Amino acid sequence: MTFYLIASVAALGGLLFGYDTGVISGALIFIRHVMSLSPTMQGVVVSIALAGAAIGAALVGYLSDRAGRRRVILGAGLLFIAGAIISAVAQSVVVLVIGRFFVGLAIGVASMLTPLYLAEISPARDRGAIVSLNQLCITAGILLSYLVGYALASATGGWRWMLALGAVPGIVLSAGMLVLPESPRWLAGHGRVPDAQSVLQRLRGAANVSHELATLRQDIAREDRKLTSAWELLAPRLRRPLIIGVGLAMFQQITGINTVIYFAPIIFQSAGLSSAATSILATAGVGAVNVIMTVVSIRLIDRLGRRQLLYWSLGGMAVTLFVLSGAFFAGTSGELAWIAVISVAAYVGFFAIGLGPVFWLLIAEIFPLALRGRAMSLATVANWGFNLIVSATFLNLVGALGSTGAFLIYGVLSLVALAFVATTVPETKGRSLEQIEAALDAGTSQNLPSAQARPL
Ligand code: BGC
Repeated sequence: MTFYLIASVAALGGLLFGYDTGVISGALIFIRHVMSLSPTMQGVVVSIALAGAAIGAALVGYLSDRAGRRRVILGAGLLFIAGAIISAVAQSVVVLVIGRFFVGLAIGVASMLTPLYLAEISPARDRGAIVSLNQLCITAGILLSYLVGYALASATGGWRWMLALGAVPGIVLSAGMLVLPESPRWLAGHGRVPDAQSVLQRLRGAANVSHELATLRQDIAREDRKLTSAWELLAPRLRRPLIIGVGLAMFQQITGINTVIYFAPIIFQSAGLSSAATSILATAGVGAVNVIMTVVSIRLIDRLGRRQLLYWSLGGMAVTLFVLSGAFFAGTSGELAWIAVISVAAYVGFFAIGLGPVFWLLIAEIFPLALRGRAMSLATVANWGFNLIVSATFLNLVGALGSTGAFLIYGVLSLVALAFVATTVPETKGRSLEQIEAALDAGTSQNLPSAQARPL
């Protein structure tokens, strides 16, 4: 099996993340009538998956540090299948909520383990692009869910098929994980250096892996004692990476991306697009921009570096959010409604070139091997927690401050995020995971933020 096939199968975790978070908006339009759901119950059906994701992300770190990355991804694949089937056949809202909770658990696990696994199997030179396959799959999954929602909207019981289809990539992911190799870094960290060597050789083909293996071994030797307690997360050496990871997790969500991903048709209708069908189509357009700009990001991420992309991304998000806020202030209707559509599309495009992929990439890069799983878990839980807060409060925020006020707040927060990146986030392009760890560990990380930092 070639490296890229292995990476693509693993990246299916991202496709499931995207599909299963996106599909509920289209399905809910029907479910709420069929099951006569109150607005509160509709909120529960949507947010139960986000809550499940936060719990899944909390458990996965410990599990994957102990049992290995591969087995836990396999478990997530099986959970995706079970959750999709339970929610698709549900005859009552209780069963539906249970099914969506399982799906949520699996999303939480996949959201953290997919980038981690990809980072741990990648060579340093291309790691940015390979890990960002995860984000590409997330955006493709979201777009797919919009298209499936559109295509099945008029079919009888279409919503059941929308939910059931999530089982298909779940089956491929689970089957793939039966044959994919364990992460060489996890193997070496568990004293299985010969196994790590043979996996590295399988991943790198004919290339000589002795140098890569040697740095891996040095890294493990440096961590002379086993870091087993979660309290180690409070150790001074982890303070800076945790501030970066949890800070980016928060900023990725509080700058508003999922208000658009989950509520775009509602935003477009309130901006004055006349029909529901036009709004749904405009939403699919925004989903396509998300995918295309993620491809652009993948081409740039190992050349321009993570920080450059974050600057462009957050600067562009702030400007487009201010335009959107201004458009609502001026009172959009008729032709003017398209200003809202264009600024939403541009906003998503700017998110996709930087903040979308770079958050998931950096949290897979900056933590020491021994605690990587648990530390990434924490950042991922923060991401889902803030996602839940923003998604649950968005409609109320619009009710209280109007769309003008809500988007103004997300715009200002994008500028705060920009300042955070400028002062805190290191450049990691071209460095091995072991070099990043050594630099952050030795407190030489002041040298890392340089955008010109050359690969060591
Ligand atoms: C975020 C998700 C978001 C998606 C949109 C991901 O990086 O974590 O919350 O829905 O990007 O493309």
